[in-house]
Amino acid sequence: MLLRFCIMVMGKFPFIRRLLIKKMYDNLAGRIQADDWRFMNFGYAYTEEKGSSVQLEAQDQQDQYCFQLYEQLLRQVAITPASSVLEVGSGRGGGAFLTHKYFKPDTTTGLDISDEAVKLCNRIYATPGLNYVQGDACALPFPDNSFDVVINIESSHGYPCFKTFLAEVKRVLKPGGHLLLADFRASEDWQRWQEEWNAGGMEKINAHDILPNVRLAMEFEQDRKENLIQSHVPARYQHFVRNFAGMRNSLVYNRFHNGEKVYWNFVMQKPA
Ligand SMILES: C[S@@+](CC[C@H](N)C(=O)[O-])C[C@H]1O[C@@H](n2cnc3c(N)ncnc32)[C@H](O)[C@@H]1O
Repeated sequence: MLLRFCIMVMGKFPFIRRLLIKKMYDNLAGRIQADDWRFMNFGYAYTEEKGSSVQLEAQDQQDQYCFQLYEQLLRQVAITPASSVLEVGSGRGGGAFLTHKYFKPDTTTGLDISDEAVKLCNRIYATPGLNYVQGDACALPFPDNSFDVVINIESSHGYPCFKTFLAEVKRVLKPGGHLLLADFRASEDWQRWQEEWNAGGMEKINAHDILPNVRLAMEFEQDRKENLIQSHVPARYQHFVRNFAGMRNSLVYNRFHNGEKVYWNFVMQKPA
């Protein structure tokens, strides 16, 4: 009931949405400092014959599905040792960290609105060439033409300003640079989302419905997530976090299974 009310308020008042989202992620990162909880996405499982292009080391394999949401996009563009990569909405930092480790760009920057998440990431992942900064997706604190690739994974659904975000990404990308985005929307917002993309001034290189892959990963991830929740989340928050994590029969899980949500990925290019 409370959750439905919050979702309704967030939809109607963008300023309150930004505030509540920041508060929620600050709380999650501040209260759960565990370094074995590195992602906050629903994951991606390959359904075709082809699998991941990256062979993860043993200590990273528990994050296989969460990282595949990144990998299935990153493999579509060229990342070289000279590349500069920005992740907007880097959360608990695992995506930027594994991108830096396995795709080996020159620099990787994770940006998040949550100060607590940024503090956590800079404590856990002290790696040359990788850093995390606090900032807002709708006012990126970087000069024009700074990055070759911008990644955005399961973050943009919370922005009160998707059009401004696209304009900001276009500004900070170098000419010819790419935006890689994977995210969900309410099914009834699908048309508006397309119009926002079309007005964004970037070329659509690829766009795919990946809901089947995400739903499959949700199934594969149930036990691992339940273990994480039981080990790290205080009992009074477990119901909330189970919903947030898309555990079976939660409100969020059901929305992904009864047609209320769409989930797509996009590869966009700034004109050269
Ligand atoms: C669901 S988490 C996903 C994190 C990460 N991409 C992953 O896959 O694990 C969404 C993240 O987006 C961040 N976020 C939400 N609104 C933001 C904004 N306006 N600017 C920057 N980050 C934002 C949140 O703080 C949160 O860490």
